[in-house]
Amino acid sequence: MSTTRIALVTGANRGIGAAIAAGLAAQGMTVVAGSRGGGPGTLRLDVTDDDSVRDAVAEVAGRYGRLDVLVNNAGISGGIDGQVSGEIDPEVMRTVFETNLFGVVRVTEAFLPLLRKGDGGRIINVSSGTASLTWQSDPGHAFASGRLPLAYPASKAALNMVTVMYAKTLASEGITVNAVAPGACGTDFATDLGLSLERTAEQGAAIVLHLATVAESPTGTFVQDDGPVPW
Ligand SMILES: NC(=O)c1ccc[n+]([C@@H]2O[C@H](COP(=O)([O-])OP(=O)(O)OC[C@H]3O[C@@H](n4cnc5c(N)ncnc54)[C@H](OP(=O)(O)O)[C@@H]3O)[C@@H](O)[C@H]2O)c1
Repeated sequence: MSTTRIALVTGANRGIGAAIAAGLAAQGMTVVAGSRGGGPGTLRLDVTDDDSVRDAVAEVAGRYGRLDVLVNNAGISGGIDGQVSGEIDPEVMRTVFETNLFGVVRVTEAFLPLLRKGDGGRIINVSSGTASLTWQSDPGHAFASGRLPLAYPASKAALNMVTVMYAKTLASEGITVNAVAPGACGTDFATDLGLSLERTAEQGAAIVLHLATVAESPTGTFVQDDGPVPW
């Protein structure tokens, strides 16, 4: 078996996912860059589509026979329309959860057999600081004001619970599972929401690269650059 670590990043065609893929490749990993659009150097992978995920698993199994690192990065904000309390459009909420929560579970379940064939598998879920119940319920926190989306942070809070549950279940198999908050980065994700942010996708990717490569990975944690994020 090749000693080069095999990593799959979902939503790796742009933004933080592209920076994660480039960073892992620069660390010497063989990176499979998932992209729902497909294209040169990428593997077609739509996290909301069972057939697409099944085909991606078959492709990785055929190429490498195993997976060592799974980065569940693909995510959507869902925009602001239909997402504010009192104005909720259930379809918007379902769409956000389909990608940010069910997409992660679908991909994780499908790739688990390949992760079990790897050595010390690592699953890293790209969550968000907005998922923190502690921060969201703190009236002094920056999240306390403004026109606030509901579905997006709820989907990421649910993702955090999914992270903890997988971490507990997979601990005995030596597979670690962690959630990260990349920080507010000036990707399309932010500009689509009308935000102008200076933090780069590469800065957002750094915590993922750390967890993917650190000698001893923790498990069941929610972290950002400077340490734990309060649940
Ligand atoms: N930027 C921030 O400030 C920020 C803060 C906290 C957390 N995050 C999280 O970081 C992650 C990456 O965000 P980003 O800022 O890089 O956003 P982005 O620039 O909008 O990129 C999102 C990526 O996810 C992909 N994607 C969306 N739906 C998908 C699907 N169904 N299947 C496969 N790929 C899909 C997109 O692919 P297409 O090109 O095909 O649309 C794109 O590659 C997300 O999980 C986001 O929630 C971002």
